[in-house]
Amino acid sequence: MSDFYDRLTPFYHLIHQDWHASVALQGEQLTKLIDAEWPGKRKLLDVSCGIGTQAIGLAQRGFSTTASDLSEKEIERARREADLAGAAVDFSVCDMRRAHEHHGSGFDIVLSCDNSLPHLLSDDDLLTALRQMFACLSPGGGFLMSMRDYEREERGVNLVKPYGARTENGKRYVLFQVWDFSGEHYDLTFYFIEEDLATQAVHTHALRSRYYAISTDKMCALMREAGFAQVRRIDDAFYQPILVGTRPA
Ligand SMILES: C[S@@+](CC[C@H](N)C(=O)[O-])C[C@H]1O[C@@H](n2cnc3c(N)ncnc32)[C@H](O)[C@@H]1O
Repeated sequence: MSDFYDRLTPFYHLIHQDWHASVALQGEQLTKLIDAEWPGKRKLLDVSCGIGTQAIGLAQRGFSTTASDLSEKEIERARREADLAGAAVDFSVCDMRRAHEHHGSGFDIVLSCDNSLPHLLSDDDLLTALRQMFACLSPGGGFLMSMRDYEREERGVNLVKPYGARTENGKRYVLFQVWDFSGEHYDLTFYFIEEDLATQAVHTHALRSRYYAISTDKMCALMREAGFAQVRRIDDAFYQPILVGTRPA
């Protein structure tokens, strides 16, 4: 799995139409959400930060930000992006299933955005990660995650999910995913077709991973089982549904 993201790292920003604009927008949207749910809380841990899409924007908005991810290459790039943005983030490599062993307690907010948790393929693994995140929080602290709404996704094989085309540095990239379901899981291939616009030479990168198409209802049930209270789904605040839960005081 970390191999998928290690290989994706140089292209990761291309998933977004304008990655820097996404960093700013997501920072603004998540700050609003956190301030509405847990006013004044500022010590934040992102347990699946990737190249820093949420962590950098939130650090720029005054959060004291610690961030980790399973992918070493993404963390290397996240450090570079944070330096370029002038954002202070304490980055490290960590499997979210060991978040508490690695980061310890005392955080006000723990977050995991952009469908990271469904990379864990069983309820047992999800519960382990959720319990670790719960333990990272101080009493009264909040957990926030975003995920795909799998109830709204078609099931089947050869399902094509287009991401569009981008041009940068004399190259055009056409991006799409192909999904193949088997039961509650699906295999995903992320294709990046890279064309050199000067020579028209074409190179295709195909990166493969697997997801658990868990429903938001089931994820909420696992959050409750891990100890979170006031668990609920919030729509229309972010580009994906957000699930929130609070560690009881
Ligand atoms: C779709 S990316 C989202 C990254 C980032 N939050 C963003 O929005 O750009 C999913 C991330 O989950 C991370 N991930 C998957 N399994 C993980 C695990 N067990 N522990 C920590 N990170 C994990 C991947 O390495 C990847 O960076």
